[in-house]
Amino acid sequence: MDMNDCKTVLSTRIGIVGSGHLGVALAQGLIAAGLPRANLLLSNRHSSAARGRLKKAGLEDRYADNRRVVDESQLILLTVRPQDYRALSGLQLKSGTVLVSFIAGLPVERIKSLFQPPPQIVRVMVSAPDTIAGACAIGARYGADSALVDGLLRRLGIELINLPSEAEFDAFTVYGPCLPIVLTYCESLAVKVSQEAIARGATACNLPPWGKVIAWANAVRPRGLDDRARRDYLHSATTPGGVTEALLDAVGEGLTLSDCFRAGIARSQRLAG
Ligand SMILES: NC(=O)c1ccc[n+]([C@@H]2O[C@H](COP(=O)([O-])OP(=O)(O)OC[C@H]3O[C@@H](n4cnc5c(N)ncnc54)[C@H](OP(=O)(O)O)[C@@H]3O)[C@@H](O)[C@H]2O)c1
Repeated sequence: MDMNDCKTVLSTRIGIVGSGHLGVALAQGLIAAGLPRANLLLSNRHSSAARGRLKKAGLEDRYADNRRVVDESQLILLTVRPQDYRALSGLQLKSGTVLVSFIAGLPVERIKSLFQPPPQIVRVMVSAPDTIAGACAIGARYGADSALVDGLLRRLGIELINLPSEAEFDAFTVYGPCLPIVLTYCESLAVKVSQEAIARGATACNLPPWGKVIAWANAVRPRGLDDRARRDYLHSATTPGGVTEALLDAVGEGLTLSDCFRAGIARSQRLAG
């Protein structure tokens, strides 16, 4: 991929379906990277929370319903919760549309089955909104070859970790994007964490050598938070019913760390069902 692909992203019309924590962070990251506001639309179900979030982010004027997002965008980012993904099934995509699903747990084939004819789909798992805001996120991608998507991820400053296959996404989610959050939560509960055990657990799940990701998690995790700031951080990084929530619940119940990671992986696998 060359710099032209990065430039192309900034002249692409991008639609974000779901304007919660992640959708808004991606929108803000893209605008900060130089995407003209006029090229961006975001949808939601018009809940007061979603409207409030768009207002707070100064993105109210970029709201559109799903139909308009789909009609006017060349690249569509899906950022709804896994339990809501079926609501997208009635949408008719234009030919040539590229979909990027950021939804935890859901395999590419599951998303593909919603649309006729099946569009080009890329699945991305990315770290929490604060890392996107800081242009220090990590992620993994799987699916269609798309220079446009690679340009998008690069523009957002997301460092990609190569995984052997889509099967490793569940383990990647807990040992990668969730790790700064788990470390922060463990610290607040004075739970001791062995970095070696984390590296061994990742290896046992067929992930590549994990030292770099552990170092990343230690570097990006917030420190010195007071109770309120920690609550806000954990809230924005935790999708209700999602993988991080399962992981943190297990930590709170006092399970061993390896059992906590197992609980997170199991939740990710259940989301696919
Ligand atoms: N938060 C993270 O750190 C993180 C990290 C990696 C991946 N993810 C993934 O990103 C996705 C979103 O997570 P989140 O934490 O941002 O969730 P969230 O804050 O609950 O946001 C979900 C958004 O989706 C909207 N939505 C739901 N159904 C919709 C529909 N049919 N059409 C249009 N919009 C719809 C909601 O709008 P209403 O409020 O109006 O219903 C809300 O704006 C999840 O799949 C999660 O696995 C999140």
